[in-house]
Amino acid sequence: MTAAESRIVVPEGRFPEPSSVTYPPELVVLPNAEAVDAYAAGLIIEQIRTKPTSVLTLPTGNTPIGMYGLIVASAQEGIVNLSKTTIVNLDEYHPIDPASLDSYASFMRRHLMDHVPVGEWNIPNGGAPSADEEAQRYRALLEARQPVDLAVVGIGPGTTCHIGFNEKGSEPDSTVRYVTLDLQTREANARLFEDPSQIPEGALTQGIGDILRARWIILIAKGVHKAWGVNRTLKGPVSSDAPASFLRIHPRVTAVLDQEAAQYLLGN
Ligand code: F6R
Repeated sequence: MTAAESRIVVPEGRFPEPSSVTYPPELVVLPNAEAVDAYAAGLIIEQIRTKPTSVLTLPTGNTPIGMYGLIVASAQEGIVNLSKTTIVNLDEYHPIDPASLDSYASFMRRHLMDHVPVGEWNIPNGGAPSADEEAQRYRALLEARQPVDLAVVGIGPGTTCHIGFNEKGSEPDSTVRYVTLDLQTREANARLFEDPSQIPEGALTQGIGDILRARWIILIAKGVHKAWGVNRTLKGPVSSDAPASFLRIHPRVTAVLDQEAAQYLLGN
C-alpha cells in the first residue's frame, strides 16, 4: 500500500447507499397552468441564452404545449436563438410511422421544429423495424451528446408516476430501451390519437439513469389529475413503483407546478 492510499479510510457502514441519499427538489408553485408555461419557458430560454450550445432533453404531451409556444414566440422575436442547441427527445411510440400526426416526432415538428431553426434534433425512430436495435442506436447517440445540460420532464397520468415512458418497475440505472406502456398511460394517451384504437402497446424511452445524468432537471405538472402523482413522487418512498420519485436522488431538480397539481403538497 502506498502512503497516499493508506490515508484513505472509509469506515464500513458509515455512508448510506447512493440511492438512499435524497435531496429536496426546488418547488415552484404557481397560480395556474399559464404561469407554469411562462416560468418553464423562461428557465429554458435562460439556459439557452447562457449557453447557446446547450444539450436539452425535452418531453412531449399536453403539459409542454404552452411552454413550446412561448419559446417559439421568443425565438421569433429574437430573444433566444436555438440554432446551436441540441435536442434529444425523451421518447417515441413504437411501432409508429414518424410521419403520422400521432407520433411524437410530428408533435415536435408541430410545436417547435417547424417554427424555429434548431441546431440538432434527435428523437427515437418509431418506424425502425427492430425496437431493440433502435434503442441501441439512440443509446449511443445520447451517450455521444452527454452531458445533457437540462432535462425537462412531465409526469405520467393516474398512479403511473412515469417520467419519459419509464413505467412502474423502472430502475434508477435504466437506460434507453423498449418498454410496454402501462394501461393507464395507453388510456390517457389514446384520446390524443386520430383513431384511439391505434395507440401502440410500447415505446422507446430514455431510461431513468439517462434522465438523472442531466446537470439540471425540471419537472413540470399542471392540473388536478396530476396531484396524486406529484404528491407520491415528492413525498412518498423513493422506489420503482413510482419511477418519478427517483428524481429525488438528483441534487438539482426544479419542480414547476400549478396550484392544482401541488394541492396535496401544500400545507403538509
Ligand atoms: C412524453 C413523456 C411523458 C409525458 C407524460 C405526461 O414525452 O415523456 O412522460 O410527459 O406522460 O403527459 P401529459 O403532459 O400529456 O400529461
